[in-house]
Amino acid sequence: MDKDLLSIKDINTQDINLLFQMASEFKQRRKRGEKIIHLLDGKSLGLLFEKPSTRTRISLEIAIRELGGNSLFLSSEQMQLKRGETLADAAKIFSLYLDALAVRTYKHENLLELAKNASIPVINALSDFSHPCQVLSDMFTIKEKIGKLEGVKLSYVGAGNNVCNSLIYGAAKMGINLMISSPKGYEPKPEILKDAQKINPKCKIETTDNPLEAVRNADVIYTDVWVSMGEEEEKEARTNAFKNFQVNEKLIKPAKKDVLIMHCLPAHRGEEITSEVLDGPNSIVLEQAENKLHAQKAILVLLLEK
Ligand code: CP
Ligand code: NVA
Repeated sequence: MDKDLLSIKDINTQDINLLFQMASEFKQRRKRGEKIIHLLDGKSLGLLFEKPSTRTRISLEIAIRELGGNSLFLSSEQMQLKRGETLADAAKIFSLYLDALAVRTYKHENLLELAKNASIPVINALSDFSHPCQVLSDMFTIKEKIGKLEGVKLSYVGAGNNVCNSLIYGAAKMGINLMISSPKGYEPKPEILKDAQKINPKCKIETTDNPLEAVRNADVIYTDVWVSMGEEEEKEARTNAFKNFQVNEKLIKPAKKDVLIMHCLPAHRGEEITSEVLDGPNSIVLEQAENKLHAQKAILVLLLEK
């Protein structure tokens, strides 16, 4: 592993597989009642968050606590960053007190700047570019359910956003067949698709603006909100553009009968997904959310145990 986890692009397939093994072990041990495992005794994780979070924040805080460490929530609103202290200066200060820093920010460049100037590992807890912890954990969930990732057909129905970008890199690293369907104007950036193709020239990552076609024979259908944090001003335009991209009973028909329905959450019920599908028998969204805890424990140990 590199010093930081900023994108799935930077982790090799071997480390991703190791992370899955560790996550599985943490999960089994927790289910057996072994909650506290002293691998990171006395380590402190800072969480510098510029945007709201429920799952990522709680799972990271509990993960470090159950590994023997502790966490400190740092709302960027209450830091001197708000009054003009530079990210580079703040990164050097964080490194004096903390053992790792998880960051949720608007601009991915902020993460790069923090990581460059911090001597401690920096973990991307979501930026406008990517959401690596989410997708590492999601791939662990798919592997648990289907038994493999290679050759699995995953249809992502939604915007070419941070979650989609991480799915693209995850697919390239793990051999998932990824079919992305987005309305025109909201597709993933061509340079990200090209980059993934360069990482794994054999990877099958395709795009279409026909969601019904995209989900044909899918093993997994994944969706995310139409309006991500920071895009609120585009709500009306996006809601119009995405109206035929709702994951509902009719849309999932062409998929395999036992298709897994995934959503990183929070969901906007009645927009990108209906309650019928989100709460339906094929939905694994709660296991997905639970697995963030186990996968992030593995991420913390891999980055901090060095
Ligand atoms: N999926 C996810 O990252 O959720 P939160 O925004 O609640 O952390
Ligand atoms: N794409 C969403 C993901 C939330 C977990 C957002 O950035 O708001």
